[in-house]
Amino acid sequence: MGRTDECAPLLSGKGRWTMFFKKDKEAVTPEQVMHGLATVQEPELHRDLVTLNMVKDLTVKDGAVAFTIVLTTPACPLRNVMEKDARAAVNALPGVKSVDIKWDAKVVPNSRMMGQLPMPARNVIAIASGKGGVGKSTVAVNVVVALAQAGAAVGLLDADIYGPNTPMMMGIKYKPVQFNGKMMPARAHGVEMFSMGFVVRDEQPIIWRGPMLDKAIRQFLNDVAWGDLDYLIVDMPPGTGDAQLTVSQAFTLAGAVIVTLPQEVSQADARRGLEGFRQMEVPILGVVENMSGEVFGRGGGRKLAELTGVPFIGEIPLDPQVRVGGDGGLPVVVSHPDSAAAKALVAVAQDIAARVSVQNFLNQNNVIPITEIG
Ligand SMILES: Nc1ncnc2c1ncn2[C@@H]1O[C@H](COP(=O)(O)OP(=O)(O)OP(=O)(O)O)[C@@H](O)[C@H]1O
Ligand SMILES: [Mg+2]
Repeated sequence: MGRTDECAPLLSGKGRWTMFFKKDKEAVTPEQVMHGLATVQEPELHRDLVTLNMVKDLTVKDGAVAFTIVLTTPACPLRNVMEKDARAAVNALPGVKSVDIKWDAKVVPNSRMMGQLPMPARNVIAIASGKGGVGKSTVAVNVVVALAQAGAAVGLLDADIYGPNTPMMMGIKYKPVQFNGKMMPARAHGVEMFSMGFVVRDEQPIIWRGPMLDKAIRQFLNDVAWGDLDYLIVDMPPGTGDAQLTVSQAFTLAGAVIVTLPQEVSQADARRGLEGFRQMEVPILGVVENMSGEVFGRGGGRKLAELTGVPFIGEIPLDPQVRVGGDGGLPVVVSHPDSAAAKALVAVAQDIAARVSVQNFLNQNNVIPITEIG
C-alpha cells in the first residue's frame, strides 16, 4: 500500500514530475527530523529522545511528519512539555508542513528483580507508614486507579491481612475462582486486585502468627493468576512488623511510598516505617502527606522528607469526598476527578511512576553485564 502511494506522483504525468522533484528538494528528510528530535530532552531522564530510543515509526512524506514517542510510563507527568518541545523542534525544520505525534509506553522493569523469581509485575510498589489510619489504603486505591486511567496495566494487592479495607474501597465483593490451579484476581476500575478480604468472612477475626503471615503473603504472589502488569501496588498494614519484612523480601520492591499526616505526632511512626524499609534496602520513592488543610495543618510530610533525605511527593487535602468515595467503593479519582483531592492523587500517581522510571533507567544504565567484566 505504502509503496503505491509513494509512487503516485511519478505515475501522474510530466507536470507532476517537475513538481515532485521541486518538492523533494525542499522536503524534510527523516534524518533531519531525527536530528531535530535529538535536541529534545526527556525532562526527567535528562537525555534526548533519540539517545533514549524513544522515537519510533517515523514517517516523512511531502512535509508531513509522523512519529510515535514511546514513554517509560503511560502516567508520564511531563508528557505535555515533551510534546510541545518535540513539535517545536520538528516545526522549526524547513519543509515541515504538519507534525503528527502518537504516544505509546513501555514500562521498564525494576532491575533489582534481575536473578530473582519471576514477579507478577515489572514494578512492585508498597504504600506504607508505621502508623495506622493515615490513609495508606486510600492512597493505594486512588493511585492504582489513576495509573489504570493513564493506560498502565496494574494490580492492587491488599497485604493488610489484619483488616483488609480495599475490597470496600474498590466496591468489590468477590469470592475467588480457581483456574489452572491458581486463584483469579478480581477486577474493578481497570485494576486487577486480590485481598485477604476475599478469602475470610467480614466478621471473622484474623489472628496471624509470623510464619502463617509469611505464607499468606507469599501465596498472594505465587498462587494468584496476575496478568502481565506494569505496576503492582501493595497496600501495607500499619506497623513495622512481620508483614513489612515479608513483603520486602518476597516482592523485591521497586520502592516504598511513605504516607504521613501533616501533624508532628504522626511523624515518629511514619519515620520508623521509613527506616524499616531502608534497613531492608528498599528504595524510598518519597513521602506523601495526607489530609492536609486547616484541620490538621500542613508541612509535616515535607519536614519528614527533609529529615530523612528522601523526595517529597506531594500533599493530598482533607476532603469529605475522599472518605465518601472510600466507603462507597468509588475512589475519588473516579467519582470527583475534578476535585483538588483527586487531582492531587493523580499527580502523586504520576510522580511515583516517573520516579520508578528514572530509578530503573539509572540502574539499568549502571549495570555492567558480568560477561563484559575483565
Ligand atoms: N484525604 C482524605 N480526606 C478525607 N478522608 C480521608 C482522606 N484520606 C483518608 N481518609 C479517610 O480516613 C480513613 C482512614 O483511611 P485509610 O483506611 O486509607 O487509612 P490506612 O492508613 O489504610 O488505615 P489502616 O492503618 O487501618 O490500614 C478512611 O475512612 C478514609 O476514607
Ligand atoms: Mg489500610
